Amino acid sequence: MEEAAQVLDHTLRPRTLAEFVGQDRMKDNLRIFMEAAKKRGEPLDHCLFYSPPGLGKTTLAYILAREMGANLRTTSGPLLERVGDLAAQLTELEEGDVLFIDEIHRLSHPVEEALYPVMEDFQFFIQTGKGPASNLVKLAIPRFTLVGATTRAGLLTNPLRDRFGIVEKLEFYGVGELEQIVERSAAILKVPVDAEAGREIARRSRATPRVANRLLRRVRDFAQVQAEGEITPELARHALKELEVDEEGLNPTDRRFLAALIEKFGGGPVGIDTLSLAVSEEIDTLCDLYEPYLVQAGFLSRTARGRVATERAYRHLKLNPTSSAALPGLE
Ligand SMILES: Nc1ncnc2c1ncn2[C@@H]1O[C@H](COP(=O)(O)OP(=O)(O)O)[C@@H](O)[C@H]1O
Ligand SMILES: [Mg+2]
Repeated sequence: MEEAAQVLDHTLRPRTLAEFVGQDRMKDNLRIFMEAAKKRGEPLDHCLFYSPPGLGKTTLAYILAREMGANLRTTSGPLLERVGDLAAQLTELEEGDVLFIDEIHRLSHPVEEALYPVMEDFQFFIQTGKGPASNLVKLAIPRFTLVGATTRAGLLTNPLRDRFGIVEKLEFYGVGELEQIVERSAAILKVPVDAEAGREIARRSRATPRVANRLLRRVRDFAQVQAEGEITPELARHALKELEVDEEGLNPTDRRFLAALIEKFGGGPVGIDTLSLAVSEEIDTLCDLYEPYLVQAGFLSRTARGRVATERAYRHLKLNPTSSAALPGLE
């Protein structure tokens, strides 16, 4: 099931920068950096992309490799546990390749340290043997491009971040951009979507392309089973209701999170660790997946003293503020 979804995701993934919707300033920059690197006959400088999940970091790694005419190798922070794991990746690289490390904030300390001279001078130092017989061996690595992705730029150490020549933050998408993505995906999936229905799906996608594509696929299921296959505005609204995605695009976990904040903690401020226990969700999941959109959409604010529900959250959940402490901006 999960695998099938990933295969499908792959076909919806834009292949070129021209197909990649939105993020215009970043795309313009990347085009210049790529062209300049090509003119110099060099690989592209190391790139770091950071954003909440589903905004296009992995897609960009694929696109950069393709547009540079390079091979792509992919791995992730948690997979590179020991320096030997990194060695296995590095020794496979050829000149100009792109090495994509997802969740790069989760690299182990020794691996991260081993990576510094690789990124800087394409030199890899590895310890061979043990005890007095051990030896530090220096390996030359072909010039390549490291592309790192992270949902938390804040968790990256400075020395690691400083070694990326190109650092780009991906922003949440506007409704018009998500409409384009829905339209494009609908064409690929060969499902007829009325313009208004497309806008409704876009509007409720938490400003996130991955969510837009997921909602489109689920709404399509309703259209195929309960209608003639076409996604009309009525069908879209009906399906989204069944999927428990509300008018603002919030899902049950979003609402549970805000309701707990308001009902159990008087709207905050309250620490994320306490909230995490109250809603039985991991702190990382709340910080990476839920909070960024709730903050962006104006339902939540993060203050030095903790999380605070905004007036908009009260209105949306139809709850009344119980005390002035519940309203933000009084710090
Ligand atoms: N700018 C974009 N234009 C069109 N589709 C996009 C864009 N960004 C992401 N997507 C779609 O959303 C999905 C998730 O993107 P992905 O690159 O996996 O996000 P991330 O790695 O940031 O979590 C992709 O499979 C792709 O179909
Ligand atoms: Mg990704």
